[in-house]
Amino acid sequence: MSVAKSLTHDSARLHVTGTARYLDDVPMPANTLHLAFGTSEVAHGVITAINLDAVRAAPGVVAVLTADDLPFENDVSPSIHDEPLLATGSVHYLGQPIFLVVADSHLNARKAARLGEITIEEKTPLLTIDQAMEANSRFEDGPRIWSKGDASAAIENAPRVVEGRFEMGGQEHFYLEGQAALAMPAENGDIYVSSSTQHPTEIQHKVAHAIGKPMHAVRVESRRMGGGFGGKESQGNALACACAVAALQTGRPCKMRYDRDDDMMITGKRHDFRIAYRAGVDDVGRILGVEFTHYARCGWALDLSLPVADRAMLHADNTYNLDHVTIESHRLKTNTQSATAYRGFGGPQGMLGMERLMDHIARDLGKDALDVRRANFYADMIDNAGQTTPYGQEITDCIINDLVDELADNAEYQTRRAATEVWNTENDILKKGLALTPVKFGISFTLTHLNQAGALVHVYQDGSIHLNHGGTEMGQGLFQKVAQVAASRFGVSMDAVKITPTDTAKVPNTSATAASSGADLNGMAVQAACDTIRARMADFLGEYYQIAPSEVRFTEDQVHIGQEVLTFAASAKLAYENRISLSSTGFYKTPEISWDRIKGHGRPFYYFAYGASVTEVVIDTLTGENRILRTDILHDAGNSLNPALDIGQVEGAYVQGAGWLTTEELVWDDKGRLRTHAPSTYKIPACSDRPDIFNVTLYENENPVETVYRSKAVGEPPFNHGISALMALSDAVSACGDTFADLQAPATAENILAAVKRARG
Ligand code: MTE
Ligand code: MOS
Repeated sequence: MSVAKSLTHDSARLHVTGTARYLDDVPMPANTLHLAFGTSEVAHGVITAINLDAVRAAPGVVAVLTADDLPFENDVSPSIHDEPLLATGSVHYLGQPIFLVVADSHLNARKAARLGEITIEEKTPLLTIDQAMEANSRFEDGPRIWSKGDASAAIENAPRVVEGRFEMGGQEHFYLEGQAALAMPAENGDIYVSSSTQHPTEIQHKVAHAIGKPMHAVRVESRRMGGGFGGKESQGNALACACAVAALQTGRPCKMRYDRDDDMMITGKRHDFRIAYRAGVDDVGRILGVEFTHYARCGWALDLSLPVADRAMLHADNTYNLDHVTIESHRLKTNTQSATAYRGFGGPQGMLGMERLMDHIARDLGKDALDVRRANFYADMIDNAGQTTPYGQEITDCIINDLVDELADNAEYQTRRAATEVWNTENDILKKGLALTPVKFGISFTLTHLNQAGALVHVYQDGSIHLNHGGTEMGQGLFQKVAQVAASRFGVSMDAVKITPTDTAKVPNTSATAASSGADLNGMAVQAACDTIRARMADFLGEYYQIAPSEVRFTEDQVHIGQEVLTFAASAKLAYENRISLSSTGFYKTPEISWDRIKGHGRPFYYFAYGASVTEVVIDTLTGENRILRTDILHDAGNSLNPALDIGQVEGAYVQGAGWLTTEELVWDDKGRLRTHAPSTYKIPACSDRPDIFNVTLYENENPVETVYRSKAVGEPPFNHGISALMALSDAVSACGDTFADLQAPATAENILAAVKRARG
């Protein structure tokens, strides 16, 4: 069986030899045109005049379009139609596309786009959480509030109250391949689109509206992305729609790719959050009641902000059993890029609010933070209804106590805690910090109907297999995992299975590859398709050899029919010659979930993925510089479909999560201009920033619910392990003095230095 084996990513060799084709590598017809947006130089205002004469006259320019030139719908929003492809009347953020240049080369298009003369009557932009709150600028009428028990009474009656406020920055996706799309005009006004997207069906849907055609006139393909991380769930719509409209107007292929600076100025990022908390606690640090207030900076358009802010609320409990809790969430509208999906989809922000509270409680009580965390954990694997999340879902699959015990042992937490204390008493300048943080992450789309997937499988008469499904590949290894499932169902080796690009003409009505559900959903759909074909083959072969179909077995590239043995290829040929259909679709929908997002009650998640990490850091108290010395992670991927790929996901996610909370800082000036729009000023982790010692292990566990081979989703949950890096830094800062240091995120060297000063009082 191929499943559960650490087989190499199907494109690994192509990746490392530079031969994997990304959109920009695909050879283009000679007459291809290239697109660029002319964008707003102000964050908020009314457009009073547009003069594009110089743009039209620029070298190589073939066409220039404004909103008035768009033939059909001017909208690229994935939610409420509030996001025009090209601005109409007013602008809402600095970087908003106003006009579209179509030219003979990428460079000519970009140069011409700089020549637009746009006159804008400026208005005062709302840029910050405080400004938006002051102006009551928000999505939805008021804050969303979910609660369980009576938090305020529990806090009043508690022996102690811990209160604080925490700011966490946003995050640029920094996928190595920027946003890109290509549209080719086809016969009779139809269009073919290739897009670097996590969501081909959404591209198909938006392009169909943009060109005024039914969805059947649009075919969208995606072979792979050079990273998506949530940034290609909705942000590719603009490029695909622009290319499609331009291709139909000019009759020529049109391609668009954002230069890195354009990508960072135009597209949305992770939501930055402020979280205020007030908790009543007892003397061991057990939370008796807690109130969280979330402030999410959503930017100018709605995009996916409601489900993102919901998921933050859904992760406010993390791994802790809370009897009395209220979570209030403000979704604020500001004149900045429209914040969007980013690995964890709000979950990390909500979880960080809770972990920060744990840290704060431990400091106030003078206890080890791990003891405080343990005092609050949900119980492991209990079946009664007594243990529920703040939104009423029963927690029956918890393993966090056992997992944390195992990790603390393996990583020698207690010994290293003592050693850290010794170090810190002996050293004045370099201070060390250690933290262990847990993770519980809910798996399923909270919008229930998205939890479905389809597949299309063909067995050819030579026994080779064509595999297609609705999931997209962004480096995470989904195609490889799903191909392993297909190979296992037919008992064939991997080279019998052809992985093919995601294609809206093969599998329709797909969901975004998101919410970590790619393998869960598409793996099951592929399994269903394979099993249909396998059953047809078994029925036929059984009849042919006069044996019960249940005695036909598929293994090691052979089919055993009682005593008879045929190669898989010979079986396929025989079935074909006897007119057996060797092609099938497959379909899957997640069972047992239901969710009322207004009440904040139900079972939004089919199950939870767990994990924990220990990070050790050292800081230089003279400069704020810091390093991660060692990280140990124990992560729950259920029965892993491919341990090597899953460990890769955990490693990458940790580094990305730690980057979010340390060096990655987005800075907007008071005009609303993003000043950090290139790697020169925006610092993602480099190879040299990974932990010096990095131990990642998968926790032995079988998913108690029925998922594909009892595996668990792994894409997003381990991102949250980055939280232990921040908490370790906070621990190191605390070693400098007695005052709670109040370290905010990202913990840049500057922020650490300031916190060290505060800690010293
Ligand atoms: N891993 C790589 N290498 N590149 C990516 O873009 N995206 C992450 C995660 N891991 C991503 C990644 C995000 S945001 C999600 S939701 C999942 O992969 C999506 O894929 P899956 O559902 O197949 O896990
Ligand atoms: Mo991932 S943020 O769900 O694309």
